[in-house]
Amino acid sequence: MADYIYTLETRLSPDQLKAVTLVQDAAKAAEMNLYLTGGAIRDVISGLPIRDLDFTVQGNALKLQKDLERAGAVVGDSDDATKALLLTFKGGVRAEIAMARSERYDKPGKPPQIAPATISEDLRRRDFTVNAMALSLNEGSRGLLMDPFNGAADIEAKVIRVLHNYAFLEDPSRLIRASRFTTRFHWPLEDRTQARYVSAKENNYIEYIRSSTIGYEIEQLAYEDDPLSVLKVYEKEGWLKVLNPRWSTAKVDSVGLGALMKTRQQMNELGYAPDAAPAVLYFLTDRMGEKDISDLRRAIPRKDLVEAWKDLEDHAQQLAKRLAGKEAATPSRTWQLLSGARPEMILFLAITARQQAVAQKIKNFFTKWRQVQQKIPLLEMTELHITPQLPAYPKISNDVFLLLLDGKLRSRTETLKYLKPLAPPPPPPPPPPSAKRGRAAKAAAAAAAATATVIAASAKAKGKGKDQPAATPAVVAAKPAAKGKPATAKPAPPAKPAAPAKPSKPETPAKKSAAKPKAKPAPKKGQRNKAKGKKR
Ligand code: CTP
Repeated sequence: MADYIYTLETRLSPDQLKAVTLVQDAAKAAEMNLYLTGGAIRDVISGLPIRDLDFTVQGNALKLQKDLERAGAVVGDSDDATKALLLTFKGGVRAEIAMARSERYDKPGKPPQIAPATISEDLRRRDFTVNAMALSLNEGSRGLLMDPFNGAADIEAKVIRVLHNYAFLEDPSRLIRASRFTTRFHWPLEDRTQARYVSAKENNYIEYIRSSTIGYEIEQLAYEDDPLSVLKVYEKEGWLKVLNPRWSTAKVDSVGLGALMKTRQQMNELGYAPDAAPAVLYFLTDRMGEKDISDLRRAIPRKDLVEAWKDLEDHAQQLAKRLAGKEAATPSRTWQLLSGARPEMILFLAITARQQAVAQKIKNFFTKWRQVQQKIPLLEMTELHITPQLPAYPKISNDVFLLLLDGKLRSRTETLKYLKPLAPPPPPPPPPPSAKRGRAAKAAAAAAAATATVIAASAKAKGKGKDQPAATPAVVAAKPAAKGKPATAKPAPPAKPAAPAKPSKPETPAKKSAAKPKAKPAPKKGQRNKAKGKKR
């Protein structure tokens, strides 16, 4: 049996995994059974990127809101009818948590009758077999996959199949969704589904679409990797005018959109993960009028997405202004400014900046300036003990990088000259192993005792007091062990930067003895004192 939890844990990003843990904790605290459902399971099984997380709980998901907000989640919307929360977790992780429900459609175009249900019933109300699976996240059954419609087989066969004959009539947004999934995955509709799709189009089922599902599908476009291809299919199929009567591919800034996707990809490769969704909507609707844009915005359920879309131009403008001003007068200051800016803003401005100087600075930030990092003399820094273990390392390496960026360190020699005074004192040799110390102490004590016995015996022979002189040699002999703190444990004082001049000598004997503690006998009294003297 496939280990879906293992697959899940290896496929999710660290931020997605954290979100799963937070939702699990909240559901557990509320004593609700929790399942990962829908597209996330499809994407886990098929090996495709996991874009968002859909959870289903047996119970009222709205009751988890406070706990999740406390854990840092932002609620983009909540729906009282389906008891669903639309959330964004740290790292831009999108998630939906909904109550397991049954839906009964009495009349086309009318909202379904919703009732709380079990997870099995919930899976029956879904759109396609590949989306109708659930993975248990509950103790006792964790990792159990529920797949009543054999969605895993359809993933294997790469087909989109509805669950039943009334699927498109009950929820005509499934027509739009079918077009979206076939375009995204390049998986065709299964034959009977295709026949139902054609018949639904001929019978104009789309007129029964509910406005709430229209908004949901507009929103989903923002998260597509190739939104223009999906939009073209929507236009061809007649779905685009359903989403908005004045929307067409002619209203799209396709050059801007293409540049956006390319720049996002480049940023991903550099380790940035900007949320491109607001900018995608911006370019998809570039040539639409104000009113049409506000209609689209009103329809979208995720309010945080709408706000980000609205603020895009203003925020990018502010960043452009800063980049054109004194704050970005030098490469290093520009670097610092851009490093602190939101990746979404950099992404958007990289494509829309009107001032050549601003565009060039962003370009340098992603290309030329990054190459300056190669000039940081890492090898020499290691030799100088300026390594990542050093608390000051991030600051030192950043300072060197910024100086190199501004051309203030023009050669390797200059860089090393700058670095040398920042080198820490050499690391102290490790203390001798404690086992040896114990043996040495015992040997010393035994020697002292023997000496004492001899002295006492000779004193006795000379007719003096038994215990008078015995103390002196015993104390001397026991001194190194009794002190307990060998000189080697003391770090060299930081005020002496000249210390690296002889870094290896004090280390060598200690290193040797640490490496072969058993091979060497305990040092003799004289040797220990000698070593001690050296270390000091
Ligand atoms: N769903 C449905 N009918 C709809 C909308 C959603 O049955 N009209 C169910 C599906 O099980 C779907 C899940 O709700 O998988 C989540 O919806 P959504 O996030 O829109 O779709 P995903 O399948 O997750 O697709 P995407 O990869 O685009 O997020």
